[in-house]
Amino acid sequence: MTVPDSTLDPKLKKLIRQDVQSMHAYAIQDSAGMVKLDAMENPHRLPAALQAHLGQRLGALALNRYPDGRVNDLRRALADYAQMPEGFDIMLGNGSDELIALLAMACDVPGGSVLAPLPGFVMYAMSAQLQGLKFIGVDLTPDFELDEAAMLAAIAEHKPSITYLAYPNNPTANLWDDAVIEKIIEAVGAQGGLVVMDEAYQPFASKSYADRMPRHGHVLLMRTLSKFGLAGVRLGYMIGPKALIAEIDKVRPPYNISVLNYECALFALEHRDVFEAQAQELIAQRAFLFDTLAALPGVKAWPSHANMILIRVPDAARTFDGLRKRKVLVKNISKMHSLLANCLRLTVGTAEENAQLLAALENSL
Ligand SMILES: Cc1ncc(COP(=O)(O)O)c(C=O)c1O
Repeated sequence: MTVPDSTLDPKLKKLIRQDVQSMHAYAIQDSAGMVKLDAMENPHRLPAALQAHLGQRLGALALNRYPDGRVNDLRRALADYAQMPEGFDIMLGNGSDELIALLAMACDVPGGSVLAPLPGFVMYAMSAQLQGLKFIGVDLTPDFELDEAAMLAAIAEHKPSITYLAYPNNPTANLWDDAVIEKIIEAVGAQGGLVVMDEAYQPFASKSYADRMPRHGHVLLMRTLSKFGLAGVRLGYMIGPKALIAEIDKVRPPYNISVLNYECALFALEHRDVFEAQAQELIAQRAFLFDTLAALPGVKAWPSHANMILIRVPDAARTFDGLRKRKVLVKNISKMHSLLANCLRLTVGTAEENAQLLAALENSL
């Protein structure tokens, strides 16, 4: 048998799309042995008694069968949790990453495009590119607010099929001005597009768009259980007008939510008080971390409505390396966008992790 070498046979290579060949795979940093503060995960695991209880429940599942109607119990539980209004429906994704990809697929009509403020969540642009849709990025202002005039001009010029507003935004962690959101939603609606309010960080935010959504027939609400505390489970959901969800749901692979995923998610919703208490604890930790960071000479910290804090330091590469040497892993986003020069994104951890982060940071500036 011939062992394939590490370079791809040119005959096979020409099968792969040119743009895919020139892409970099989504980079996941090696976190072994590190205090992991790079991916906005909830740092808390399930309490031991719940671990045992969940283990029993998962062990008893029929893993030999394809996922069944129980997935609809989860759809109902999430719809209740999110107080889905009458006339709306909910679809599930293997993380909201999958929903973002499915939405691009469903909206891939000739001339279709995706618009989002930048810096923002990378999957909006990536899903558009992979689907062959044009991506229009509109820069935020230097203080990371929506640039109302630039957004409205881009909507008028490009008539995007999908406009994403992450609320709060990643990596800037802020909520947008309500009046500006409404103007954008009106403008997108007037030219026949969709708006997705991406509330991935909703457990940590003081506001949600959920109760304003029913006023519009072209707004979708996207959420995930990842930041709530189930990043390992991969469960995203999207709520929108019934007829619209019915169309988008047609491109979803039939068994995209595994039996393990839906049972874990149902279990977590039954024990939502545990997760909600963890979120409250993280909100308190965020306040402590922000106040301490803001008082550090040379560090600029931006207020956060999520479980991350954006900071600017004199030299992001040096600070990032210093933190890594001290076994603290954060995300260096300084090359992601010109507005993020010398910025690092810190995930809010436990009290102990945050203390380690602060000690390492003071020695790494
Ligand atoms: C704004 C935003 N939306 C969606 C996601 C993806 O979440 P999921 O883990 O559900 O794929 C993220 C992940 O960081 C995010 O920051």
